[in-house]
Amino acid sequence: MERSSRNFKENMASPVELSVIVPTYNERPNVGRVVEALDASLAGISWEVIFVDDDSPDRTAEAVRSLARRDRRVRCLQRIGRRGLSSAVIEGALSSSSPYIAVIDGDLQHDERLLPEMLSRLREGRHDIVIGSRYAPGGGTGNWEKSRVSVSRWATRLSRAVIHTDLSDPMSGFFMITRDAFSARARNLSTLGFKILLDLFASAPGGLRYLELPYQFRQRSLGESKLDTQAMWEYAMLLGDKLFGRFVPIRFLAFVFVGGLGVLVHLALLALLYRVAELGFVTSQAAATLGAMTSNFALNNVLTYRDKRLRGWRWLRGWISFCAACSIGALANVGIAYFLFEMDTQWLLAGLAGVLVGAVWNFALSQTYIWNRPHRA
Ligand code: GDD
Ligand code: MN
Repeated sequence: MERSSRNFKENMASPVELSVIVPTYNERPNVGRVVEALDASLAGISWEVIFVDDDSPDRTAEAVRSLARRDRRVRCLQRIGRRGLSSAVIEGALSSSSPYIAVIDGDLQHDERLLPEMLSRLREGRHDIVIGSRYAPGGGTGNWEKSRVSVSRWATRLSRAVIHTDLSDPMSGFFMITRDAFSARARNLSTLGFKILLDLFASAPGGLRYLELPYQFRQRSLGESKLDTQAMWEYAMLLGDKLFGRFVPIRFLAFVFVGGLGVLVHLALLALLYRVAELGFVTSQAAATLGAMTSNFALNNVLTYRDKRLRGWRWLRGWISFCAACSIGALANVGIAYFLFEMDTQWLLAGLAGVLVGAVWNFALSQTYIWNRPHRA
């Protein structure tokens, strides 16, 4: 009894004050260097680092755990069957308990030497969040190519129009926030994409008292960027979610958008098979239907559900289930439209109602049974 209470007191001697959350995907060569960099700049501070790894094929998680076996300040949170920078950061923060939470990339592009100043500014209690900014006076993007700079600036402007903030670098993935401010917003975060900072600012309740500190964005020396290609679409999803998410799930809108493309694919295939290849109409129509379902499935897999993307066998199984779900959806569509038409509803309205019912059906089934199945390796 006495012994355990003494242990408890001993442990309380140095509670962790700062949890550093590092999202990683294929950063194996960098994790050791990140810990060393943190160790060097956080001298005198009681900290821990939580790497949130989405089951990277290069086995980043294993590398982190081997560091963690030697250093108790290091922890690994490995997520299986999931992807996404924002959700990784949120879950990492939720897995910790310290009063201050820092978020920093795992490729050493952010300047960890800024962390002590961020912490001391937060300790003063006048701010909820301190943000590393590339665009505040004194900051910079190093030698980024021109195209990337202009995309980044354009995205920044768009965010100002949509979400009212005058942050100089709303896309920053480098900041420190108090536990209280984070917890107050945790339930409203959309978890989509990678713009976690924007999400924090856009999420109720109330504004965040913020401070920006300039820093120079460094070159990535090892490994490669994962955000370049998917960035635009994920950004659109986040903005869409913040604008319309209250009324309709953003994934449903993405699903409908993909469905619209599917109609075009269908008509193009039909024209090609029936008019150009001169196959029979029914054969052409059936093949066009299969083609459109396949393209819808593939596009939903990379766009609507990119964070739960299916690959290999799971892709094949998903595709079969998707085609089955769509066939039933099509029956429901025709059934409802026919019923309304018989009830003297105008033909166009009856047709649209059928399409809507079919779309909701397909969405509900896909969401539940295709992209949310438990993940087994
Ligand atoms: N867990 C997890 N899951 N981590 C991820 C994922 C993912 O799906 N995708 C990327 N990461 C990790 C990377 O391993 C890296 O540590 C960090 O997130 C940033 O990813 P990079 O691929 O290096 O992004 P970047 O350098 O192109 O983007 C930087 O600039 C953006 C603004 O233009 C980052 O600082 C972003 O946070 C920032 O928004
Ligand atoms: Mn990077």
